[in-house]
Amino acid sequence: MENGRWVSRIKPRSAIGRAFLKGGILLFAGLLFFGGYFYYAPIFPPGKYAPQQPYEYSHKLHAGDLGINCQYCHIYAKKAEFAGVPPFSKCMNCHVNLSINKPSVKAIQKAYEEKNMGRWTRVYNLPDHVWFSHKRHVSKNIDCAACHGPVETLVVSTENRVFRMGFCVRCHQERGASTDCWACHT
Ligand code: HEC
Ligand code: HEC
Ligand code: HEC
Ligand code: HEC
Ligand code: HEC
Repeated sequence: MENGRWVSRIKPRSAIGRAFLKGGILLFAGLLFFGGYFYYAPIFPPGKYAPQQPYEYSHKLHAGDLGINCQYCHIYAKKAEFAGVPPFSKCMNCHVNLSINKPSVKAIQKAYEEKNMGRWTRVYNLPDHVWFSHKRHVSKNIDCAACHGPVETLVVSTENRVFRMGFCVRCHQERGASTDCWACHT
């Protein structure tokens, strides 16, 4: 029997051989498990851009656990091309006396007092030849999550999606929005 011979060839006959085989299988399973864990780990999966930010801020805490509305901070989303990132004065609405003993909050308070504009590192960036407007979408009640995914689960801002042309065009076709090249390319 072909099969029988093949099996008997990888089945070690000595105790040492069997121990090595078991060890090898355990090591392989371990690598598979931890490899899988790091691949699917929710915060920094490979290929998802999550730049280091100069200050600490968690969407999971503020937008998720505390349930603060996205547009409370990103106030231009309905009114302009850009959604806008809040200034520190917005954080101070709460943090003027909340959690002020935490170093992460102290750093924000200090920046605010020094009138530091606090540049956060951009996560999303379309190429220059593409024109995009938040207003056109958000005013039509398209949810932030349709494009940005579940931001309220992120501890660190992460690029949930790379905006490829097909993604934009597919929804435009479904919703009867313009698929004219010049609608998006300037
Ligand atoms: C308490 C204020 C606050 C709330 C509420 C908030 N955000 Fe933010 N958001 C920020 C700050 C500050 C940044 C910049 C720092 C960072 O990227 O983590 C940011 C960054 C982002 C970015 C990345 C932008 C980029 O390209 O750099 C996206 C997308 C975003 N927010 C979407 C959302 C969505 C969707 C919600 C609601 C589920 C939301 N935010 C709620 C303060 C807020
Ligand atoms: C139709 C898709 C789409 C929707 C809906 C959408 N965004 Fe965006 N968002 C984008 C794209 C594309 C960019 C990158 C724009 C660029 O690079 O010019 C972006 C960038 C951003 C940025 C960083 C730059 C900026 O505009 O200030 C923030 C913050 C942001 N989005 C928040 C939000 C929030 C909050 C909502 C919901 C109220 C939302 N977005 C809804 C596609 C979308
Ligand atoms: C509507 C109120 C509110 C606003 C606005 C707000 N926060 Fe918070 N923040 C909270 C609450 C509540 C906590 C949790 C307090 C605690 O557990 O001590 C918190 C906690 C934090 C922490 C500490 C996290 C930790 O436990 O280590 C940081 C850092 C922080 N916020 C940054 C910001 C930044 C940056 C902004 C502005 C973009 C902001 N917050 C705006 C309510 C707010
Ligand atoms: C979830 C669906 C959806 C996605 C995804 C989407 N759009 Fe749209 N977009 C629409 C709808 C619906 C309209 C029409 C809004 C209106 O009638 O004012 C629109 C309108 C526009 C317009 C204005 C068109 C005009 O005729 O003036 C531009 C530009 C645009 N989108 C660019 C983009 C880009 C770039 C992306 C990808 C980053 C994108 N959209 C992703 C649904 C979407
Ligand atoms: C709904 C918006 C939208 C429409 C309509 C659209 N594009 Fe695009 N296009 C994009 C976005 C977003 C990108 C950037 C994607 C990227 O970098 O992967 C892009 C990228 C491109 C590129 C660069 C290719 C690349 O991989 O970087 C070319 C060329 C292009 N588009 C041609 C066209 C032509 C021709 C049409 C008309 C038939 C068209 N586009 C219609 C949104 C659009």
